[in-house]
Amino acid sequence: MQGSANLNVMLKAARKAGRSLVKDFREVENLQVGTKGPGDFVSRADTAAEAILKDELMGARPNYGFLGEEGTQIEGKDPTRRWIVDPLDGTTNFLHGMPHWAISIALEHKGEIVSAVVFDPAKDEMFYAEKGAGAWMNDSQRLRVSGRTKMIETVYATGLPFGGAKYLPACLQDLARLLPVCAGVRRWGAASLDLAYVAAGRFDGYWERGLQPWDIAAGILIVREAGGFVEPIREGQDMLADGNVVAGAAGIFEPFANIIRDREA
Ligand code: IPD
Ligand code: CA
Ligand code: CA
Repeated sequence: MQGSANLNVMLKAARKAGRSLVKDFREVENLQVGTKGPGDFVSRADTAAEAILKDELMGARPNYGFLGEEGTQIEGKDPTRRWIVDPLDGTTNFLHGMPHWAISIALEHKGEIVSAVVFDPAKDEMFYAEKGAGAWMNDSQRLRVSGRTKMIETVYATGLPFGGAKYLPACLQDLARLLPVCAGVRRWGAASLDLAYVAAGRFDGYWERGLQPWDIAAGILIVREAGGFVEPIREGQDMLADGNVVAGAAGIFEPFANIIRDREA
């Protein structure tokens, strides 16, 4: 795909931050066995990746705004455009030496996501999309959501609430209704990749509550440009602000979303 100049800026930034994170990820393994553990090291890796992304993105587009998970918030001179960045999505995986984490970068224009990148450096998979131009992986692989239509053949991703999060009862009810009628549910620990995998047809659907804008901004566009649906769990909500999402391939979205929405009524 011939991407826009903005998309090229995003891809370059993701690769640069990816190199830094891969280097740090190798260190994590050594630190695991030490008494102090890799916790502080990982939060430094995370902050360093955000600094790289900020330098690259703001260096190329100094007038845009910036919202990053690790605390960078810049009001842009151009109030209509904003980068939304998670420098390390899947921190718990990274911390535990599991190679499933990503960098997520979205560009918002007038409240709408127009360009998106989710980069998984450990597997060298670069997912990206631009509004109206489709969703892609690496150089030239067009992404398409799955074509499955039988619920019993479908596999889903979700995020299980941790650390006392308030959504545990809701999530357990979802699982109780969904598991008997599908082929499985995974909890892989990186929301941006869960969405990218829906776009790639690997997962048939995904849902999660309590997310932040940087977890999902890029993934939402990638799913939509791959022909899938992403909606707020409670219809009519602003998805980025609300953080409760349900996504899926066209063939199963309705029955799947109904299962997730049932308890919301
Ligand atoms: C987390 C991951 C995880 C999701 C959490 C997020 P982080 O992001 O996306 O899959 O379940 O809600 O906070 O903290 O690793 O950037
Ligand atoms: Ca995240
Ligand atoms: Ca993060």
